[in-house]
Amino acid sequence: MTWHATVLTLFPAMFPGPLGQSLAGRALTAGLWRLDVRDIRDAATDRHRTVDDTPFGGGAGMVMRPDVLDAAIGTDDGRPLFYLTPRGQPLQQSRVRALAAGPGATLICGRYEGVDQRVLDARNVEEVSIGDYVLSGGELPALVLLDACVRLLPGVMGADASATEESFSTTLLEYPHYTRPADWQGRRVPAVLLSGHHAAIAAWRQDQAEAATRARRPDLWQAHRSAPANAMDSAPRAP
Ligand code: 6GU
Repeated sequence: MTWHATVLTLFPAMFPGPLGQSLAGRALTAGLWRLDVRDIRDAATDRHRTVDDTPFGGGAGMVMRPDVLDAAIGTDDGRPLFYLTPRGQPLQQSRVRALAAGPGATLICGRYEGVDQRVLDARNVEEVSIGDYVLSGGELPALVLLDACVRLLPGVMGADASATEESFSTTLLEYPHYTRPADWQGRRVPAVLLSGHHAAIAAWRQDQAEAATRARRPDLWQAHRSAPANAMDSAPRAP
């Protein structure tokens, strides 16, 4: 079955956007995944097509009405429902992998101050964030979530990239990359990479990955130290 994404938004013109290009775009054209975009405003019932109202309890901004959003969601088809919000659980690669292995997802993009909590509770909606910063709406996060899933679908990436995804420990950052020219503006590529010594290259890359992770992401480094994804990642090496 084709992986099926549905996006509910007040700004349908923002889709497929970047997902119409490159890897995801070719996969979309090839039918490896399907994208339905629904304008939440089409579910409004009054002549002004109202989707929001003032918050109970007062405060700034507007809140999306539960009845309108519930109608926009429609009948439960078994695919998981997501609401993109900075209040959500941080999106992780493990969740992306599980999602990509399923039938697809329905993504709700909020605007205004948020959506009425009752529809999220009633429809068992999973709240997801893409990081600790505030965006003006859920559309860009929805594109991010979809890109992360689509690249994992069978046939979307080349065998190379798939193998990397399988084997690369997500608890370590990647090592740095270099290509020609070997000397660029006096900056030389690390000599070991020109040595042809494959074991030495692998060891150097492992050291670089560990050093970058330790310096930039102490949280990932701690997680890696307590549970390396690959036993060789923590094995002592001959000098
Ligand atoms: Cl999912 N939505 C919005 N509006 N801002 C965010 C976010 C989501 N994740 C990080 N910032």
